[in-house]
Amino acid sequence: MSEWQKTGWRAKPRIQMPEYTDTQALSEVEARLATYPPLVFAGEARTLKGALGSASRGEAFLLQGGDCAESFAQFSADNIRDTFKVLLQMAMVLTFGAKVPVVKVGRMAGQFAKPRSAPTEVKDGVELPSYRGDIVNDLDFTADARIPDPRKMLQGYTQAAATLNLLRAFSTGGYADVHQVHAWTLGFTDREEAELYRDMANRIQDTLDFMTAAGVTQDTAHTLHSVDFYTSHEALLLEYEEALARIDSTTGTWVAGSGHMIWIGDRTRQPDGAHVEFARGVQNPIGLKCGPSMTSDDLKLLMEKLNPENEAGRLTLIARFGAGSVGEHLPRLIRTVREEGANVLWVCDPMHGNTIKSSSGYKTRPFESVLREVREFFSVHQAEGSIPGGVHFEMTGQDVTECTGGVRAVTDEDLSDRYHTACDPRLNASQSLELAFLVAEELSARRGAKTKVEAV
Ligand code: PEP
Ligand code: CO
Repeated sequence: MSEWQKTGWRAKPRIQMPEYTDTQALSEVEARLATYPPLVFAGEARTLKGALGSASRGEAFLLQGGDCAESFAQFSADNIRDTFKVLLQMAMVLTFGAKVPVVKVGRMAGQFAKPRSAPTEVKDGVELPSYRGDIVNDLDFTADARIPDPRKMLQGYTQAAATLNLLRAFSTGGYADVHQVHAWTLGFTDREEAELYRDMANRIQDTLDFMTAAGVTQDTAHTLHSVDFYTSHEALLLEYEEALARIDSTTGTWVAGSGHMIWIGDRTRQPDGAHVEFARGVQNPIGLKCGPSMTSDDLKLLMEKLNPENEAGRLTLIARFGAGSVGEHLPRLIRTVREEGANVLWVCDPMHGNTIKSSSGYKTRPFESVLREVREFFSVHQAEGSIPGGVHFEMTGQDVTECTGGVRAVTDEDLSDRYHTACDPRLNASQSLELAFLVAEELSARRGAKTKVEAV
């Protein structure tokens, strides 16, 4: 394969990227971003790669989640805290319920650019270019708002830096201390699934009390006081990615400085396209969305391009087929991976194959379809003898009404109450936690089955 250059993607066919008209402003922004500090460091990306390698062997489990699209207008400390808190709660449920370490990765601090199913949008007979995420253009339905503006990349960078700064503070500054497990229940105290969570929190508290009584001190238990939390986003806007790519001084190889993990979307994964070309040259863990149109031949080519050294933790395959379709597509891809002897981490995204238009006109996802796809993902892996290594959700810590269903049943009519997403519908805090309990159940059933087999 030819030698990689950070600009090499420019010579490849690109789709889903904006056509900037103000090329002067674009060059200025790119030059400026290229001088800014990277948001993450290569050593962190390598640590995450090691953790994802563990997940690919079934020794850990990936929990990846956050907004479909981060928004400039909804940027606030409370929003970041609430999403972080729900991810910690979910991780706690998975760790405690399934007895497996959880690798926590936010769709945060850079998840701005969006691929769209159509280049234009029609409202009341008016046709305008589609909204492509706050880093590209504006959601307002006016011709001006929809013109891609390169300066928005600077605002994206600033927001990502501030988000990451807060996440780093939450992760190590005491907020994520496991002793806070009760404090994290605040905000959903009278909900049904809170019962389950409180029950578990009591048991964790008992364990902590026991550890203290047995002489495990704060010093020796320092890992309980902080968490490793990583960031990720779809590397769609390649001008932004290129400008933040840096040489890692330790290894002399390139790293995407925009986030710890980047992924390639289901729409932009052409083996000879610009997005694959960019991702293949950076050392970060790479995610690859796999939808129903992914062929075995494409997957082989992509694995060869994106992970030529067959490094564990480098490549995460994010299956997103839709409830009822997992059995049709996942087995052949699992077999391709096996035939190639490829090291990959299998993750389930039960969101993007389950988007429908509700009777009230809103884009939504029925919670039962999300649950069903997760179950199908686990059962296919069970049947194939492969490892279900993680989950990928669109969720928020806010009490939104964007996906229908769940224990506090959001109905079609409720959707208009608190529908705040700039793009796809997200699970709310309560639905996210409910899902975590289900995944923990699936995981512990799987571990139980494995133990039985081993015991025979
Ligand atoms: C997304 O993750 O927001 C997304 C657009 O996913 P996909 O590429 O799988 O459709
Ligand atoms: Co989405």
